[in-house]
Amino acid sequence: MQFFNENTIYFLVVDRFLNSDPSNDNCRNPEAFDAAQKDWCKYWGGDLAGVIDKLDYLKELGASALWLTPLFDQADGLVDVEGRGIAAYHGYWAKDFKRMDEHLVSNQEDIRVFASHDTILDRLAAAMHKRDMKLILDIVCNHSSPAHRPDDGGKVTKGELYDDGELLTSYENDTLGWYHRNGGVTDWNSAWQVENEELCGLADFNESKIGYRTYIKEAMKLWVDKGADGLRVDTVKHMPLWFWQEFVSDMLFHKPELFIFGEWFQGGANDPFSVHFANASGMGMLDFSLQNAIESCLAKNADGGFCCIEAVFKKDALFNNCHELVTFVDNHDMPRFLSVGGTPERLRLALGLIMTCRGTPCIYYGTEQYLHNDTNGGADPYNRPMMERWDATTPAFKLIKALAQVRKENLAVQRGSQRVKSASENIYAYTRVYLDNCCLAVFNKGPASEVTLENIELPDGVYTDVLTQSPARVSGGKIEKLRLEKDSLLVFSRAAAPSDGHTLIVTFMLNGFKTAWGQKIFVTGNCPELGNWDLDRAFPLEYINDNLWMEGLPLKHPPGASVAYKFIVKSPDGAVLYEDRPAHVRRLPPEGGLLLKHAWV
Ligand code: NOJ
Repeated sequence: MQFFNENTIYFLVVDRFLNSDPSNDNCRNPEAFDAAQKDWCKYWGGDLAGVIDKLDYLKELGASALWLTPLFDQADGLVDVEGRGIAAYHGYWAKDFKRMDEHLVSNQEDIRVFASHDTILDRLAAAMHKRDMKLILDIVCNHSSPAHRPDDGGKVTKGELYDDGELLTSYENDTLGWYHRNGGVTDWNSAWQVENEELCGLADFNESKIGYRTYIKEAMKLWVDKGADGLRVDTVKHMPLWFWQEFVSDMLFHKPELFIFGEWFQGGANDPFSVHFANASGMGMLDFSLQNAIESCLAKNADGGFCCIEAVFKKDALFNNCHELVTFVDNHDMPRFLSVGGTPERLRLALGLIMTCRGTPCIYYGTEQYLHNDTNGGADPYNRPMMERWDATTPAFKLIKALAQVRKENLAVQRGSQRVKSASENIYAYTRVYLDNCCLAVFNKGPASEVTLENIELPDGVYTDVLTQSPARVSGGKIEKLRLEKDSLLVFSRAAAPSDGHTLIVTFMLNGFKTAWGQKIFVTGNCPELGNWDLDRAFPLEYINDNLWMEGLPLKHPPGASVAYKFIVKSPDGAVLYEDRPAHVRRLPPEGGLLLKHAWV
């Protein structure tokens, strides 16, 4: 898996984005579609043609990766939830993992998505790649569909599962034993129940059956081959870790550069089980802990202010790679920021934070247009309104656009350490630092005020804020009396000139050695770039946090070459500590990026 941090992800619920092709609206079950867009639990018409139509808008916004809700063919009936008939417009109730849902395509033949190389999905992927945008598919392995309501033609189709149109099994007649039949979860603190029992009546797959695993992994590889650059993985908490380890290994074996991140609901630094998952599964993770803190601090004005947010970043070293976290302000499973007390001004602070902090930011569709509906506190499904405007001049649009550019250009924003400079109720400032790259972000959620910042890693000089162009002078690492307007943010960026095009960059990452003050970590090895085992010429890594040192090394090497290397720790008094093991040996690819992740032994 490669770094994804130069990207800004945009997450859209396809059905609620743009209805470009009305011909696919009334599909197998016309009852499931509401042309008036009044019934929030039915299809409203968004489709892949709509996404293609708006690619230029999204590109201009700075979205370099799109995460789309699942595209699998969905159960057709309505499901009874507290008396309401709910359609699978959201995409999380699949019945055929090898077909595309009929509401999304323009030519109905395209539902047999793997039968042709010219489906609307192929065209979407090609149009995105032409614009240098990445495609992230949302995938589900934990479950298929729930039971339809009894009046739905009298048909109860819970868990009916197909392989490109051919019936495999169903929950009611599970000839293959592919479903757990343990009832619904009652004790959410029991990991066994969460993994082996049902979530909201969704037919829960039995991953111990090799037939099921082969089916689902084969299906996902086919989707990846359609041009996916990333996978967002649903409900990871609900399947055992060993399954995900096998799954991620197989996916990365198939396509090593895929970026994979999981949805562990409410996961993040504040949930130790999810931290273990992030460190052991091989995939990144959505950062709910940070989302909670952003919402509390900036929308709900919780006591402690920015200290709530800093408390989350303080735990970054719990992760082997905090850069693999995906940060967000809100999503389709919670009320939008603007529905829980957030104002447009505060939304700018929240966006500014995720755009500049560690991790990869993900913007929920419509945020740039202040899209929200506050019925029932904005809870699901009211957090999924139809996209209404495509205005490229809103302050939120301009902010995302400007900061996506900073992220793209500045290595410190992508992969630097994050160093707090001020954290109080109303004011927050941090730098991101990586080699000669630096970015300073300053936030004020209180009345207009001033702050003096010290130990700023920017070289002396005058810098202009990316958003307002207002200046700040750095002198001896100090910025005196920086003026902060009410509810405002400032971002000062210094990106080093990009290095010459190298054919191969090997990034060394080391976890598990907490350096004392003055200690530094290096890589020594058997090629000139690593000093040919001469410790004076060893390659220095960059400090990220107490659990992570890393750096990318451009390597020249003959085709088919290997490299042998070892991590060492140098202390200020000249003492050297070697890893207590034989050297690592790796065969090098001819070009591209190679990420070498290690834990100190
Ligand atoms: C998490 C998804 O984000 C949510 O929207 C969905 O309903 C559940 N998983 C079940 O798939």
